[in-house]
Amino acid sequence: MISCGSISKFLRTGVITLLGLGTIPAEETPTAAEIGRAIFQDTNLSRPKGQACISCHDPNHAFADSRQASPGAAPNIKGTRNAPSLMYAALIPAMAFDDFFLPDGSEAYAWEGGLFHDGRAQDLFEQVQEPFFNPKEMNLPGPVALAAALRKSSYAPSFQKLISDKIWENDEQLNYYAYRSLVEFLKEPFFRPFDSRFDAYQAGEKNILTKTEKRGLKIFKTTAACADCHFLHSKSWTAPLLSDFGYDNLGVPSLGQKDPGLFAVTDDPEDMGKFKAPSLRNIALTAPYMHNGSIPTLREVLEFYNVRDLQPPRWPKTDYPETVNHDDMGDLGLSEQEIDELLAFLKTLSDRSLLKKPKEQLFPNTPAGTPSTLDRKLYFPDWTHRLHPAFPGK
Ligand code: HEC
Ligand code: HEC
Repeated sequence: MISCGSISKFLRTGVITLLGLGTIPAEETPTAAEIGRAIFQDTNLSRPKGQACISCHDPNHAFADSRQASPGAAPNIKGTRNAPSLMYAALIPAMAFDDFFLPDGSEAYAWEGGLFHDGRAQDLFEQVQEPFFNPKEMNLPGPVALAAALRKSSYAPSFQKLISDKIWENDEQLNYYAYRSLVEFLKEPFFRPFDSRFDAYQAGEKNILTKTEKRGLKIFKTTAACADCHFLHSKSWTAPLLSDFGYDNLGVPSLGQKDPGLFAVTDDPEDMGKFKAPSLRNIALTAPYMHNGSIPTLREVLEFYNVRDLQPPRWPKTDYPETVNHDDMGDLGLSEQEIDELLAFLKTLSDRSLLKKPKEQLFPNTPAGTPSTLDRKLYFPDWTHRLHPAFPGK
């Protein structure tokens, strides 16, 4: 049994160095986030060896994959979905059937939050466990193999120092701490810098956006109503996350095999082909787009929203036409100039710390003044560890 004391010792967050490549001096007790950072880059945790989280979540593309779908560790295996950005992923609320009010005052319910495009992981802690064992990803045969590989890792001495020797010997408990470490890593400040030009504009620097970008922002809020789903107001964090994390079927082009999306999680036929609305932060850096990577450029995404229903032959058939949203999109009536303005606005959502990152430096720097995880812990969906308390099952 692991006591609450050992959990809080484990989760204490220190100041970490941002330039290290995952090697931690063995004489110092590391933070959980530092161990998570090493695991994130460790290519010995796949079968065959050679793939790590970072192989598909590329820091030079805001931790998304610029390939339509990522190849797995095993030869000739490929997934069917596009790897999303990990920027701000730790702020995505847990999956819940939330109630809200319609304009006429009546109450309605909808699925919101959760991890993966279909929300099948309730939260990040559930999510980080999957890639290791997914045959289309890191392809380990099971928890025993993961624990064995962790014990052989270059950071094993530091990891062992962080947890007790007793835990180190127990596969299930060792893996539990590896997952928690990954979660702590994904909460690191450089994943949530909020330092885009749009953020500066929101903070009062009214001249930082050009006239074109400001017109794009207005279209985003009004005529195109993008902000109805990609929220511009803050909800679960102090700054807007550019999503309500709700689910919708946009009718995106099919790439062959049908993907049921949210239906696979809820079993509700109305959810067929629905996927989670992602944050639009850093959207200009994460092409290609949509859950299956079927739309190559951001301008085409905008054209798709604008004229999907007017020019059907332009986009291949979608998987589930019967649940496509025709109320909010598909015929927006935007001119070419308005599309350009909207595009200009979306480009203001790129974090400057990512734009400035030298290619040879692995992770971006954290902008000065970004609060530590400890300072913001109440805002993280997992802050009470309600969902995943001290080591389960014992
Ligand atoms: C082979 C490529 C690949 C590897 C390796 C990989 N991922 Fe992913 N990741 C993906 C894809 C593809 C998705 C979307 C899958 C889906 O929705 O079904 C994803 C989704 C995620 C998400 C959900 C983000 C969101 O917005 O819902 C997180 C978080 C994540 N990965 C973290 C990790 C971590 C941590 C590791 C290492 C333990 C890892 N990934 C390894 C390809 C990969
Ligand atoms: C009714 C809710 C809704 C509205 C309105 C909406 N979106 Fe989306 N958006 C979504 C959903 C859901 C997805 C994910 C769809 C998928 O992957 O199949 C998405 C995906 C996207 C993506 C791709 C993200 C990625 O990482 O691949 C972009 C870009 C985008 N939306 C921009 C916009 C813009 C610009 C507008 C206004 C013209 C807009 N959205 C209006 C719900 C919405």
